[in-house]
Formats: sequence, structure tokens, C-alpha cells
Amino acid sequence: MADARQQQPPVIRLADYTPPAFLVDHVDLRFELGEDSTLVHSRLTGRANPERVQSEDLVLDGRELTLEELVLDGHPLSKAAYTLGEESLTIPDPGETFTLEITTRIRPQENTALEGLYKSSGNFCTQCEPEGFRRITYFPDRSDVMATYTTTIVADAERYPVLLSNGNRVAGGTLTDGRHWVRWEDPFPKPSYLFALVAGDLACVADSFTTMSGREVALRIYVEHGNADKVDHAMQALKEAMAWDERAYGRECDLDIYQIVAVADFNMGAMENKGLNIFNTSAVLAKTETATDADFQRIEAIIGHEYFHNWSGNRVTLRDWFQLSLKEGFTVFREQHFSGERYSEAVQRIEDVRRLRSAQFPEDDGPTAHPVRPDSYIEISNFYTPTVYEKGAEVIRMMWHLLGPEGFRRGSDLYFERHDGQAVTTEDFVRAMEAATDADLAQFRLWYTQAGTPRLHCSGEWDGEAGSYTLRVRQEVPATPGQPDKAPMHLPFAVGLLDAEGNDLPLQMAGEETEGGGETTRVLEVRDDEQAFTFTGLDAEPVPSLLRGFSAPVRVQFDYTDGDLAFLLAHDSDLFNRWEAGQELAQRALFGCVAAHREGRAMELDAGLEAAFGTLLRAPAEDRALVAEALTLPEEGYLADLAEPPVDPSAIHAARAFTRRRLAEVLAAEFETGYHANLAEGAYRVTAEAIARRRLKNACLAYRVASGDDTSRSMALEQFQAADNMTDQLGGLRPLVAEGHPEAEQALADFYEQWQSDPEVVDKWFAIQATSPEWGSLERVRELMSHPAFNFRNPNKVRALLGAFARGNPARFHDPSGEAYAFFADQVLAMDPINPQMAAAMARAFSRFGRYAEPHYSGMRDQLERIRA
Ligand code: TRP
Ligand code: ZN
Repeated sequence: MADARQQQPPVIRLADYTPPAFLVDHVDLRFELGEDSTLVHSRLTGRANPERVQSEDLVLDGRELTLEELVLDGHPLSKAAYTLGEESLTIPDPGETFTLEITTRIRPQENTALEGLYKSSGNFCTQCEPEGFRRITYFPDRSDVMATYTTTIVADAERYPVLLSNGNRVAGGTLTDGRHWVRWEDPFPKPSYLFALVAGDLACVADSFTTMSGREVALRIYVEHGNADKVDHAMQALKEAMAWDERAYGRECDLDIYQIVAVADFNMGAMENKGLNIFNTSAVLAKTETATDADFQRIEAIIGHEYFHNWSGNRVTLRDWFQLSLKEGFTVFREQHFSGERYSEAVQRIEDVRRLRSAQFPEDDGPTAHPVRPDSYIEISNFYTPTVYEKGAEVIRMMWHLLGPEGFRRGSDLYFERHDGQAVTTEDFVRAMEAATDADLAQFRLWYTQAGTPRLHCSGEWDGEAGSYTLRVRQEVPATPGQPDKAPMHLPFAVGLLDAEGNDLPLQMAGEETEGGGETTRVLEVRDDEQAFTFTGLDAEPVPSLLRGFSAPVRVQFDYTDGDLAFLLAHDSDLFNRWEAGQELAQRALFGCVAAHREGRAMELDAGLEAAFGTLLRAPAEDRALVAEALTLPEEGYLADLAEPPVDPSAIHAARAFTRRRLAEVLAAEFETGYHANLAEGAYRVTAEAIARRRLKNACLAYRVASGDDTSRSMALEQFQAADNMTDQLGGLRPLVAEGHPEAEQALADFYEQWQSDPEVVDKWFAIQATSPEWGSLERVRELMSHPAFNFRNPNKVRALLGAFARGNPARFHDPSGEAYAFFADQVLAMDPINPQMAAAMARAFSRFGRYAEPHYSGMRDQLERIRA
């Protein structure tokens, strides 16, 4: 038996980075796809890295491969001439240049991990990021080894009429045995993680785009037969994204053909393989009847994201996986900006901040806190985290605030120009920003290395005699595992001041020689533990509007009165901060109920919140988008993160359910009016205006249904039955199921009957049930797991049922009996041998156990220990 310590996977450290000993200039691949197994022939043209200090052995990565043949410079190698390890193939120094031919046999049919080459609905496809290529053939599977690829695919012509890989199709033909072949050539050197192959029977939708220099790029989206009527939206979004990258970043598409394939079994949203993106069906397929507004927007965002990677990720790639945020943070920022410009910047910002706060802040607060650029990892697949993605995007956004849009653009131009074709680091990005603008980002770099969400404790001081207002900011960066002492961060702190009527005041700062240019928002630069900013020329004490547009990923604390918050909610010119003030008001009211519940007192609806909601519902129609957002009470999970530990999830659930129901009762007339005032006008369209209208209408309907009265239930049922689009159909169904009304049973059955042949809609059917505290009991979830439409091997189904239950149904997941914890841990354990990446993602449902009160604390901890063992 092996020593247990030897089985521990090693820790990989950034500090240990060394350049590769060998480079590969060209890869010639030939796949023979078979029904039992696949043969992969690879011919590598390589050479010693001129930068290497001494001669070394050639070490290639490989996992679960059967090596059939190995030929070096034309001579077959005997077993004695190489060493085969569990995950490596070592060949003694092959010299300055070499040609290595490798034949491996793999079994895509048995690959349930969805990494490397696998089958999805009968088609072959690949996922190579981050380390999937080593499951296809032996290779230096690291992002700083960049090669051009030629890929020949041989497969049965009938089963797999479509054969795709990166680059351009250069040849093809038929064989006499019923097979055919196609050859693809990718002219751009790329790391192995961007390799892709697809073979199957797929429908193709074609279009084209003319770039700014007048080049024609062929666009193709491949989907399963029967889905060709669901790709218009994705195709349109792709063209919009291509035009936007030209406009916003001056980046032109470098390809002759850009292909997207939708596959049903996929661990994430999509993958940016060079010229051949592979997408989860859920991130492509949409038509009015089957996709919600949120789906349409998510599809555009992901299409944009993967397209933008063509420059931020592919043309300029990563030196190593510690730099992951270099491509992901930057690309998420680009995607957010793209979406915000297409719809509403304020709503986009609200949604992005919601996601940051619900997923990243908890991570930064918990046992797995890590910097945007981690300095060690054990398993890189588990590092695709909200910190790397979402906080990484915030770090880029802060540079955009600090340098201004023009400075930032000069910086990004320089970055792309300097590093085109290279594998680089986050440091290279920051250096380009500095070189293009003369900014000093020395202290700013801490955002890449220090984990933890900074807190800004702010206070204001009014000096009536001097007519000045001083804003004091004390910065605190909390300790995180492995980082007990933190230095203060450099961050852009956008602020404004409001007068008593709610108008923005022109900002003039003490010590400034010239009169301020009447600016009403200033980006203050916070750098120290404590700083003071004095505004002058004021007649009366202003109300500060802090961190406008959420200009930095921090928590701000300021002693606003409830009256101040209501005032900001009504008047702030910064829409994000209007929403923020409303959320803060709601939080206070909810925590008041939590306290009452815990102390056994009767909960009461906060009068201030009631008044604020009343005002919102009577607001002018042009504020619709904001009102729709503001009516959404903070999620239970987010409240659990804000609460002082030990957290009692049932008190939080009771408080939120009570507040919702009381608001629904006392404002029933307003919600009723809001519903009717926002009924659709004309045909379904996906515009900012139409989306806001539907969102507000459906929010009003959900509140009406929460009051429990009969008319509201028939309103919901009627909308559900009459809807001509999925947003409204679900808008009717969801509240009936959420509140567990008797109408839900038949409506759910009808919905399934109507949509059973559409897997994406069936996912919604699972999720709507799993997230209902009234309907989605553990028993129900168990039952649904044996429903014929459920499939434990399909990540979308697992997310729709089990993921939705664990994240979206806290009342049931945190059942004091601990039964749901045990059940969920069973599922994680069952998933691990099938799809370890999915299992790891699922296990994160327990990661916040440390904050919870008993019996939750021990309940979750015990299950985590069971999983670890
Ligand atoms: N790079 C992908 C993105 O656009 C992320 C991704 C897709 C991924 N599939 C994956 C990461 C599988 C790890 C494993 O964000
Ligand atoms: Zn990405």
C-alpha cells in the first residue's frame, strides 16, 4: 500500500514558476474516432527553449491515456528509452530540435468528467481548459507553450457528418470504408487549452460579419437538429459583440471563420477555444416561447464574453494558471460593459454587484479566501472562482475609474500591441496601463495579492461657519487565512453631495486653486488607513452619496438615518445608489424582524420600509427599471452573510417571508395598480424598456400572490395560461409554486406536459420546484431525482434541481434536522467519481458553515468531514 502522504497531490506555487525547457512550434494531430475507442496520432515539432540553462529531459503531461507508439526523429522508442508515470511521459534530453510522434488510445465514451474528449448526446466534443488536453495526448500542457495546430479528423460519415476543429478547413475526403475525413489548420499559435474538436450530426446556421477593415468573417452556429429555430438571438448577439469590440477597444476579428457549437453536457457556460467556441446549450438556445428575458440577456453576455476572449485570452494569453484573472477578470469587465451599453448601465451594475456580494464577498470572508492572483493551488479546476472572475473584473473597473476611459483605452491598446502573440502576466497588464498613462499603480497592485474585502468606515463633519463638509474615511482590510496583516489599498471612491431638495451639489475641494468645474461626482483616491476630504463652498449640511456606481469592491459603513436612506432612494442622481439606499433600508427592517423572531417577540412591518415601497410604487413610469430592482428584497443567503454570527437561517427565512407577506397585504392596491399599469404593449421585444416593464409587472404579481388572496391567484393562473412568452408564463407560475398554492400542482403538470421535449425549459421546471420553500421539500427533490427527465450525468439538470435546492431554498436546505445536509452530501459523494469538477462545485454549498448557529454548524461541518474523508 502506498504511503498516504504520497497520494496527496502536490501544491503548485507561483514562486516556483520556470519557463518550459522545451517549446513546441507545431502540432499535427490525427483523430480516428471510433465507437469503442479513439486513436490519437500526434506529431510534435519541438526544440529546446533557448532560455534554458542546462539540458533537461522532456517531460510531457498525460492522464488516463494508453500509449500505443512513440517515435523520436523517425526511430521507434523502446520501453527502455522513456519513462511512463501516472501522469507523465519522460524522454531523456531529445536535443536542440526534435520530431516526436505519439499514438494514444482514449475512451471518450466512458468520459463522464466532461474534460478532454467526450461524448454529449451522441456527438464528440472537447473541453481542454485548464488541463484537459493531457487527457487526449501526451503534451507539455501548460499555457506558455504555444504552437500552430493542424488537425485531421477521421470518422464514420453517416454518424458524424460534421467534423470541426480550430482554424480553417483546408482539405477533406471520403474513405472506402464508410468513413470520411476533414483537415483543419489554425494559423495562430495557441496554448493547448484552446484546442477544440467536434464531430457529430448537427444543424448549421450560417451568417457573416464584415470587419472594420472590410474583411468578411463567416459565422456558423451548430446545434442539434430541431434547434435551428433557436439560434437567431445568439447569432445577432455575436455580430453585436464583434462590432462592439471594434468600437470600444479597436479590436478586429482575426479569423476567416468563427464557429460556435452548442452541447448539452457541459460543466460551465461556454469555452473560448480559438475560432471554435463550445457552448452549453443553455447559453445559446432561445426563442420567445422558451426563453426568459434573463435567458436572452445571459446568452448575449456569454456570447460576448467568449468572443471578447479572442483578444483578451487568446491573442494575448496566460503565462501560467496563476494569471487566470488576467483573461477572466478583464473579459468579465468587457462583457459587463457591453451588456450595460446594450440595456441599462444602472441595472447592469445592480445585477453585477448583487452577484459579487452574494458569491464573492462570502468567499473573501470565509476559509477559501484567496487573492485575485492566487499564489498557490492544488487543483486549478477548482480555482474558477468568483474572486478570480467577479472581483477580478472589479479590479479592472477600478483601473478604468482611476485612469479615466481614455487613459484606460490607451493602456489596453498598448497591452494588446505589446503582448500580441505572447503568454503574459497580470503584472504585464498593470505595466501597460502605467506606461500609457504615467499613473503610479504600485500600491494598487495589492488588489492582486491581498485577499479580503476592505471596509470603509466613513463619517461626515459639517462646519457651518466655514461652509465646509469633511468626509473621513478609515480603511480596514480584514485578515484572511494566511494573510494576518494587511496594508491599506488604493481605490477609487466616487462620491457626490446632495442638497436638501435632493439636487446634486457642485463639488469644490479645499485647497484647490481653481473653482471646480461644477462636477457633481468626484472620484476620490483612497490610499491610507485614514484620510479626510473636505468640500467647501456649501450653504447647508449635505447628504453624502458614497461609492457611486459601486466604484470599488468594498463595504461602506456610514451612519445614515432611515430618513437619509429614504431621501437617497427618492432623489440620488446615481441610480445605483438609489437602489443601494433602498436595500439598506430593507436590510434594517429585515434584521429588526430577525431580532424580534429570535427573542420571541411578534414581528412587525417597519413603517419606514412600508412608506418607501409605497413611494416607489407611485414613482413616475420612467423609473420602472429602478423600481423593479428596488422591490426585490435582499436574498436570504446575502442576509445570512451580513448577519452577525452565529447565523440562524430559520429566523432569516421567517423575517423575509413575513416582511414580503405584510408588504403584499398593506400595499395590495398599489401592487394591483402596478401590475395593470405595466401590462405589455404590443409584441414581445427584448429591450431595456420592455424588460423593465415585464419585471415590474411580474414583481407586482408575485407580491399580490404572496398576500394569498383568491383574485391574485387567478390573476397569476390566467397570466400563466395566456402568456405568449416564457418570461410571463413563468411570471405567473413561479409565485403560485413559491407560495405553495393549490393551483401550483395542476399548473406544474400542464407546464411539464407542454414543454417536456425542451430540455432547457424542463430545467426551469425543476428549478422552480426546488427553490420553493413551500413546494420544494426534501421529499419532493428526492422524487424529482427519479423523474425520467432528470439525469445525474447532465450538469444542467444537476444545477437545476440540486444546485437550485442548496442555494435557492435555504429554508429547506438548512432544515434543523440536518437531513437535507446529509442528502446533499450523499449527492456530492455520488458525483465525485462521475464528474469531480461538478462535485467540487456542489460541495461549496457547505463552505460557509463556520458562520452558522447550531445545529447548522455541526450539521454542515460533519457532512464536510464525511466528504473530505
Ligand atoms: N474559459 C471559460 C470562460 O469563458 C471557462 C470554462 C469553460 C471552464 N469550461 C470550463 C473552466 C471547464 C474550467 C473547466 O470563462
Ligand atoms: Zn472567460
